[in-house]
Amino acid sequence: MPEPMSSVSFPPAFLWGAATSAYQIEGAVREDGRTPSIWDTFSHTPGRTAGGDHGDIAVDHYHRYRDDVAMMAELGLSAYRFSISWSRVQPTGRGPAVQRGLDFYRRLVDELLAHGIKPAVTLYHWDLPQELEDAGGWPERDTAYRFAEYAQIVGEALGDRVEQWITLNEPWCSAFLGYGSGVHAPGRTEPAATLRASHHLNLAHGLGTSALRSVMPTRNSVALSLNSSVVRPVSQDPADLAAARKIDDLANGVFHGPILHGAYPESLYAATELVTDWSYVLEGDLAAINQPLDALGLNYYTPTLVSAAEPEANGPRADGHGASEHSPWPSADDVMFHQTPGDRTEMGWTIDPTGLHELIMRYTREAPGLPLYITENGAAYDDKPDPDGRVHDPERIAYLHGHLSEVRRAIADGADVRGYYLWSLMDNFEWAYGYEKRFGAVYVDYSTLTRTPKSSAYWYGEAARTGVLPA
Ligand code: NOJ
Repeated sequence: MPEPMSSVSFPPAFLWGAATSAYQIEGAVREDGRTPSIWDTFSHTPGRTAGGDHGDIAVDHYHRYRDDVAMMAELGLSAYRFSISWSRVQPTGRGPAVQRGLDFYRRLVDELLAHGIKPAVTLYHWDLPQELEDAGGWPERDTAYRFAEYAQIVGEALGDRVEQWITLNEPWCSAFLGYGSGVHAPGRTEPAATLRASHHLNLAHGLGTSALRSVMPTRNSVALSLNSSVVRPVSQDPADLAAARKIDDLANGVFHGPILHGAYPESLYAATELVTDWSYVLEGDLAAINQPLDALGLNYYTPTLVSAAEPEANGPRADGHGASEHSPWPSADDVMFHQTPGDRTEMGWTIDPTGLHELIMRYTREAPGLPLYITENGAAYDDKPDPDGRVHDPERIAYLHGHLSEVRRAIADGADVRGYYLWSLMDNFEWAYGYEKRFGAVYVDYSTLTRTPKSSAYWYGEAARTGVLPA
């Protein structure tokens, strides 16, 4: 039984946002010069997504953005995190920009500002232009240079009106699910390429950060969003602790090591030596990656529970992002993953708000002085309208209350958390799971594309307007 909810208040400047990403909501995949991204190709490949779902129309946000912004304003949100479709801006992934593509984002940002909603732009939320994948994708170094060029184009176009920037969303998923387990686009299953991709994503973040800074006013904030895992061992047995450390390196250290501290963990090099020699880490790369950040975004859903395993005892694991016979984790066949006990969401992910507190406190220690944002947190439930057409989702309200209370507890414990973005504003294309998993605070009827705020949207709107979690 969930704890009874109590009212909890937040600092006055706290941002109350919602998040989305381009491929999951925009649709209009062939309009105004946009070309396919790896997710267009992947979702149109038979067997890759549930029911063959794809983002061709998605929730048609490209045409309905004005209504969507009005809806956010009516609910009372103070911030909105969205991503830019790279192939809408640079159809071949290189060279000059398509103004019509950029114009869409200019209009969207202006609409948000006119409604008093603070935009936060994510440059890369997994939709690499297909042409760049055809040239090798993230395992190739050139992709990082292409990203820096793209970052500069978007920074020049929107830097005057967008203060908050996020270079990459969850690079772990791009590398480990895209090139390791293959449950995400481009669907490759190559352990060595997974680590090469990780390095080039890190390099893209560093070069992209410098490119943004070179074209934007200094008041702008540059961050990235990590889905750092809260890794817990099943026991204090040294073998289980070692398993947890290995997964911590492969899930977290591989990104925050170079980004926050300018080095990969030595233990990561040691753990992966049979898979890769890291010879693609060139002189100067670590300094290029280790750019001072203005903030750090954390995405959190559920903790990860591990133990040591005999190599042959370990089954495949897809980290809840789809099913695959391939492990996303290179060199970790001596680690076994377990289901954390407790209630679960529709994704099968255990609900554990204490993990969010743990994550925030970790990065408070790991990056002292760096403001933190929760750039994603939320839950999928099997929401359905009642006969009156209203959608009641008390489980989502309980989920949000539980997690936001832990954010508040972390602030009381000294963490500098400046805002929270609920995933997601509205139901959308949940990648390999298609449209069946509904993460929205707003319900979308996929036959009419009508939007109906669920009870959680009103609950969250009240929290946003008052700064207090309604009991
Ligand atoms: C992480 C991703 O950034 C987002 O795109 C996805 O829909 C949510 N998590 C839920 O899986």
